[in-house]
Amino acid sequence: MFVSFEGIDGCGKSTQIELFTKHLKANNIDFVKVREPGGTQLGEKIRNILINEHMCSRSELLLFLASRAQLVEEVIKPALKEGKVVVADRFAHSSVAYQGCGRQLGSEFVKLLNDFATDQTYPDIVFFIDVPVDIVLERLSSEHKDRIEKEGKEFFEKVRNCYIDLSRTDKSFIVIDGTKTIEDINMIIIDTFEKYLNDFRNLRSSSYTSL
Ligand code: ADP
Ligand code: TYD
Repeated sequence: MFVSFEGIDGCGKSTQIELFTKHLKANNIDFVKVREPGGTQLGEKIRNILINEHMCSRSELLLFLASRAQLVEEVIKPALKEGKVVVADRFAHSSVAYQGCGRQLGSEFVKLLNDFATDQTYPDIVFFIDVPVDIVLERLSSEHKDRIEKEGKEFFEKVRNCYIDLSRTDKSFIVIDGTKTIEDINMIIIDTFEKYLNDFRNLRSSSYTSL
């Protein structure tokens, strides 16, 4: 199974991934955690460039996609083949929201490029932790706040609205009200995951019996 976590900066992804992977460990579920951009030797180099260099939006998008393609080939596909759960801190939908909508390169166009970069490998569940931009601003430390202030509130409103739009058409999206407590969100994530895992196991055992 492949699970990704999405949302605007500071929505609570890292907090929830930490709790979710603790749950996986406690239940002896084999998993691989990946982060975007990064997660491979090439990807970490690209991350460094993305953080430190000024560039136009098209270059930015292509670098995110190059990092993603490498991650899919080197880490995600092999882990899924071995039956592991892949937990991604951001994946393809971040490019749709940030570059497609935030940078206005076009969400449909970015989706097409994602198909190419991921070789059509997509998460079974996307946990979209939705928090209004103003609340995120209240929550964040100055480091994060600087990043949001640098882009402008308007940019993050576009990114958030894009995620909301995606959640209306993409069946893998689970929208979570990120203003709930950390514990409540963690429970929603674990309940949803367990339900999917059971369905997944039932499907597998029924396909064995029909063989
Ligand atoms: P992200 O990884 O999405 O950038 P973090 O998990 O680092 O976000 O959370 C950003 C800040 O918000 C942290 O200070 C964290 O403790 C706090 N936080 C996370 N989830 C919640 C929540 N549900 N309610 C209130 N504060 C939260
Ligand atoms: P990171 O420190 O991982 O973000 P977070 O604070 O959410 O944990 O930095 C990743 C940044 O890159 C974040 O601002 C979102 C952005 N991003 C894109 O613009 N496009 C993408 O495709 C991805 C994966 C991330």
